[in-house]
Amino acid sequence: MTTSAEPVRPGPVAARTVVPAPRLLRLPGVYRPQEDTALLTAAIADLAVPPGARALDLCTGTGAQAITLARRGARSVLAVDLSRRALASARFNALRCQAAVRPCRGDLTTALRRGPFDVVVANPPYVPAPAPTVRATRGWDAGPDGRAVLDPLCAAAGRLLRPGGTLLIVQSTLSDVNKSGELLAAQGLRVSVARRARIPFGPVLSGRTAFLEAAGLIAPGQRTEELVVLRADR
Ligand SMILES: C[S@@+](CC[C@H](N)C(=O)[O-])C[C@H]1O[C@@H](n2cnc3c(N)ncnc32)[C@H](O)[C@@H]1O
Repeated sequence: MTTSAEPVRPGPVAARTVVPAPRLLRLPGVYRPQEDTALLTAAIADLAVPPGARALDLCTGTGAQAITLARRGARSVLAVDLSRRALASARFNALRCQAAVRPCRGDLTTALRRGPFDVVVANPPYVPAPAPTVRATRGWDAGPDGRAVLDPLCAAAGRLLRPGGTLLIVQSTLSDVNKSGELLAAQGLRVSVARRARIPFGPVLSGRTAFLEAAGLIAPGQRTEELVVLRADR
């Protein structure tokens, strides 16, 4: 997609799990790496990470993507998350992999203060939720439309990136991929689809079908979602 008016076009279709995730320590309450983790990791593997790149993994969780970025040649990777347990997990996993990853507690504002970066990746919470987000659901819930973290992130993407830099964000089509594309394109970024994969609903979405149908976010009887990795180049 190159302009804000165009819908997001299909990119390469990915198998459900493209890159085997390394065995990662995950403290209780930390997001379990799953299909979106693997899809974003696969998109990072497709990326030509410039030698010596400064990279950001926003919403790092166990640090899976941060470690991949370091292995792909990034000189330094800032791994940002709100959760102390996620950061402890990411710190341990990075040490075990001897990856140049620096865990940092914070959010988008923290990342903006530490930027700009050559490569930015994010698997933010994007699941539409009928109830307010609480600590236990902070890993995936993102407000009634799933965009509580996506909107500010997409709107600030241009400021996170150095000229020539690249951003990869994974999300579900349930949380309006076109809106993300429009917000990114509005900053003059070149937007495309790096990867996509259709998967069956997991336990969280399966427990929310009545809400999702009532909100018009899924068709009656729909029990699959599509995950999309958007790429934005500055
Ligand atoms: C979907 S998980 C992704 C984890 C990991 N990157 C992966 O792909 O497996 C989202 C992560 O974002 C963190 N998080 C939630 N809201 C955040 C925010 N506003 N800023 C930074 N991190 C946030 C959660 O603690 C959680 O670890």
